[in-house]
Amino acid sequence: MNSEYSSIHNYKMIIKALYLFIVFSLVFTKPNPENGFTLYEVAVKNVRQVKILSELERKLNLDVWSHALPKRSGRVLVPKDQRMLFENEFSAAGIEYKVIVQNMEELFELERKRLLEAAERSSSRDDNGSIAIDRMHSYDEVNAFLEELDKQYPTVNLLTQGTTSEGRPINYIRISSSNFTDYTKPVVFIQSLIQGREWISLPVVLHAINKLVTDVTEEDLVKDIDWIILPIANPDGYHYSSTNSRQWTKNRRIVDQECIGVNIDRNFGINFGDYSSDNPCSDNYHGTSEESEVETRSIRDIMILNQGRIKLFLNLQSFGSQILYGLGTGDLPSNGLILHLIGMQMATVKNEIFTCKDDDYVVGNVAAVLEKESGSAIDYATVVRNIPYSYTIRLPSYANGGTVNNDNGYIVDPRYFKKAAEEAWEAIKVGAEFVRDFA
Ligand SMILES: *[C@@H]1O[C@H](CO)[C@@H](O)[C@H](O)[C@H]1NC(C)=O
Ligand SMILES: *[C@@H]1O[C@H](CO)[C@@H](O)[C@H](O)[C@H]1NC(C)=O
Repeated sequence: MNSEYSSIHNYKMIIKALYLFIVFSLVFTKPNPENGFTLYEVAVKNVRQVKILSELERKLNLDVWSHALPKRSGRVLVPKDQRMLFENEFSAAGIEYKVIVQNMEELFELERKRLLEAAERSSSRDDNGSIAIDRMHSYDEVNAFLEELDKQYPTVNLLTQGTTSEGRPINYIRISSSNFTDYTKPVVFIQSLIQGREWISLPVVLHAINKLVTDVTEEDLVKDIDWIILPIANPDGYHYSSTNSRQWTKNRRIVDQECIGVNIDRNFGINFGDYSSDNPCSDNYHGTSEESEVETRSIRDIMILNQGRIKLFLNLQSFGSQILYGLGTGDLPSNGLILHLIGMQMATVKNEIFTCKDDDYVVGNVAAVLEKESGSAIDYATVVRNIPYSYTIRLPSYANGGTVNNDNGYIVDPRYFKKAAEEAWEAIKVGAEFVRDFA
């Protein structure tokens, strides 16, 4: 009997190992080697060059990772077959550039290796049922976790708002000690992965869920506040970034035969089209009309369903170590001063617990810190839905251990995931406590 049991047991273990292997091979397959990219750093000296740079970026349709300003260099990703053109144009304009990562495929490969190692190190749930935050999880794995919570915790309700063009339900959870029936409580709405490639925001949002459900250390946050958490706002884009093209950011709807996808964070019905691209091949493409995308409408409808109750909206993105508020036009909302002060407090508490000099947050209006934008989720939340405190938190890029270089933008070494998650949680708490007490 005993040996029969143990052979069945072994058999199950093998099946499980095989299953894990297949899941990982499917989720983290190699991107197409034909599409090679080089990452450049660009430096500008004055406002005139900033202008030339942004015109060139538009003309060559470059993937801008971060915008260069005098005193702050920027990063652009250039397809290998456009490198000559890029270098000639930039030299002619007198803009300095240097190669940061010669071959991005090597970096993606390294990331894949590290993620596999991280997944092998520990189990995907701890004893409390918390999901591991030292690794990435696929769309299906995140859904499985949300389903577990929905079944096991009376405070959690799993809901679906729309289905993507590739057929993935857009799932979110509500966390509440009173099933959202007590209208005197404020609602805090957190979303992440509106851009497919901004992976670091996933462990960050999952940690917040752990702290509100499976590993509660601040009971009052669950008692006094109702939470809405949308961990994967762009399921198709995230899936495609994980399986095909690491740097993919838009959704995957076929709007144009040549170029797929819409930037959801430019698709909202607020100043639509003013500071975005009408070129379907651009990462900044705003879509065929405002709210043309189901992902956009899902976020909109979650806001409408909770109209008047959402006091804090946090859109977790990467990268840049910034806490940003509207409006994308550069105009400030009427509560601009207090919006800034709360942003500062969120940044300060984070900087206090992790005194890592080079990832201190910058707080400010998005147009002042980065550049003008339109059709964004935070502007829609602020202007159309009257959510008084709406921020985009751009998480740090973190040092990458020096293997390839020190700052690889969207590619974050899994050993920094926990730090990212814990510091962001401190910031989220500050914002949530503020709206509970004063908003
Ligand atoms: C909570 O509310 C939702 C609808 O908003 C409902 O479907 C669900 O059954 C409720 N749960 C409980 C435990 O009452
Ligand atoms: C489970 O939660 C408790 C209470 O928050 C905590 O002290 C403990 O470390 C957690 N266990 C694990 C395995 O994380």
